[in-house]
Amino acid sequence: MSVDWGSGSVTRKLTKPRSGTVAVLDIGTSKVCCLIARAGRPSPDGTNPIAAQPRVIGAGHQVSRGVRNGTIVDVDATEDAIRKAVHMAEQIAQETISSVTVNLSAGAPQSEILGVDLDIGGQQIDESDLRRIFQQTHTMRDDFAAQSNGNGADRELIHSIPVGFSIDGQQGIADPRGMFGEKLSVNMHLVSASANAVRTIRAAVERCHLEIDGFVLSPYAAGLSTLVEDESDLGVTVVDMGGGTTGISIFYDGEMVFADTIPVGGNHVTSDVARGLSTPITNAERLKTLYGNAIAAESDEHEMLDVPQVGEDEHTAPHQLPRSLLNGIIQPRIEETFELVRARLDNSGFGAYAGRRVVLTGGASQLQGARDLAVRILDKQVRMGRPLRIRGLAEAIAGSAFATGAGLIAHAIENPSSLTMPVPLQYGEPGRLTGRLGQWFREHF
Ligand SMILES: Nc1ncnc2c1ncn2[C@@H]1O[C@H](COP(=O)(O)OP(=O)(O)OP(=O)(O)O)[C@@H](O)[C@H]1O
Ligand SMILES: [Mg+2]
Repeated sequence: MSVDWGSGSVTRKLTKPRSGTVAVLDIGTSKVCCLIARAGRPSPDGTNPIAAQPRVIGAGHQVSRGVRNGTIVDVDATEDAIRKAVHMAEQIAQETISSVTVNLSAGAPQSEILGVDLDIGGQQIDESDLRRIFQQTHTMRDDFAAQSNGNGADRELIHSIPVGFSIDGQQGIADPRGMFGEKLSVNMHLVSASANAVRTIRAAVERCHLEIDGFVLSPYAAGLSTLVEDESDLGVTVVDMGGGTTGISIFYDGEMVFADTIPVGGNHVTSDVARGLSTPITNAERLKTLYGNAIAAESDEHEMLDVPQVGEDEHTAPHQLPRSLLNGIIQPRIEETFELVRARLDNSGFGAYAGRRVVLTGGASQLQGARDLAVRILDKQVRMGRPLRIRGLAEAIAGSAFATGAGLIAHAIENPSSLTMPVPLQYGEPGRLTGRLGQWFREHF
C-alpha cells in the first residue's frame, strides 16, 4: 500500500503501474486509432530503462467519418471506424481486447481548481489524513456538480488530480506525510465535460462490445506522451493540433493544472484552401501538406502550383496558381488558432505557471512554418513533440498525430494520480464508485 509521490514519470504515481496488456482508443476527427500495448518490465537492477517502457504490439487506424470538431456526430460511422481499427490492432497483436481507455475531446471540457482544507491539530500527517482529504474532495465535487447542474448542463467529472499540498499556508509540499501542522490543504484539479457527449462516446464504444476503462482528456494524454520530466516540472504548455480540435494542457510541478479545447484544427485549414482555390477537398489537403506554409514568403509569388478546379475532370489542364495564394489562405487560419490559444492561456490564470515553453504536437502541427508562427504569436520557446518512452510504434504511427494514442497507453499503464472516471458516476450517489476510481480508493484507503 505504498503511495509514491516521487516524480518517477511525468506525473506522480499514486497507484501501482499495471502489468499485462492494455488497449486504447483515440477517437479523433481525422482518424480513429486503436493501440494494444504490453507494459514494460523494469530490469531488476534498473540498468535498462528501455525495458520498462510499454511496447505496442498491435495498432490499427481508420479514417474517421463520424466525428466533427472532436464530437461524434454520426454514431454508426464512428462505430464502424472503431470496429475496423480495433479489428486491425487485434489481428496484429493476435489478442482479443475487451476493454479500452478512451480519449475525450468532446463535451467542452472545463478545468477547475478546488481547494480542500483539513484540520490536523498539530498532529503528524499520515495516510489517514490523505484519505480524509480525498474523501472531502469527493463530497465537495458533488457540490461542484450540483453547481454545474444548476445551469442546466449535466456534467461528468473526468479527472481529479491533486496538484500540490500546503501545510499552514506553506506551499510546494510534494508529500505531506510525516510533517506536522494545524491545517493541511490540497488543490484538486477537476476536469469535467458534458455528460451527454460522454454518453455518446460510451454508446459508440459499447456497441463494439468494448468496456471503457476510463476517459483521458486528449491534450492530457498528448502531454503524458510528449513531455520530458523537466518540462512538466518547470511548467509547459502542450498544444495538440488535431484535425478538428486544438487541445491545450498546462503542466506544472509534474502535474496537469489546466486543460482546454478549441474547436478549430487542421481540417479548417484544408476547407479554407478548398474554398479559396475552388479545388476539391482531397486536393486542398494535398496542396496544404506538400506546399503549405503557415508563414507566407515573398518568393511564393513566383512559384506556380497546379490546382485542379472543382468540377473539372482530369483531362482538363489544371489551373496554375501562385503558391502565395495558398499560403495567404493558410496563414490567417493558423494565426487565428494560435491567437485563440493565447487568449485561453491568458484567461486560464495559469499564465505564470505555463512556463516559457510550448510543445506543439498533433497531426496539424506538422504544417511547415507552424512552429515559427507559434513562436511569434505565443512568444515562447516552441518545440515539436512526438511520442516518447514507448516502444514498437511503427514509423507510420510514431509521429505527432499519435501523441494522444501513446499518452492513453501511458495513462492506462501508469495509472497516474488522476482519478479517472471509468463508468457513469452519478453525482450525489456516493457509494456507487466502481471501476478504477473505486479500486483506487480500495487500494489506498
Ligand atoms: N504534413 C502535414 N502538414 C500539415 N497538416 C497535416 C500534415 N499531416 C497531417 N496534417 C493535418 O493533421 C490533421 C489531423 O491530425 P490528427 O490526426 O492529430 O487529428 P485527430 O486526432 O484525428 O483530430 P482531433 O484531435 O482534432 O479530433 C488533419 O487536419 C491533417 O490535414
Ligand atoms: Mg487528436
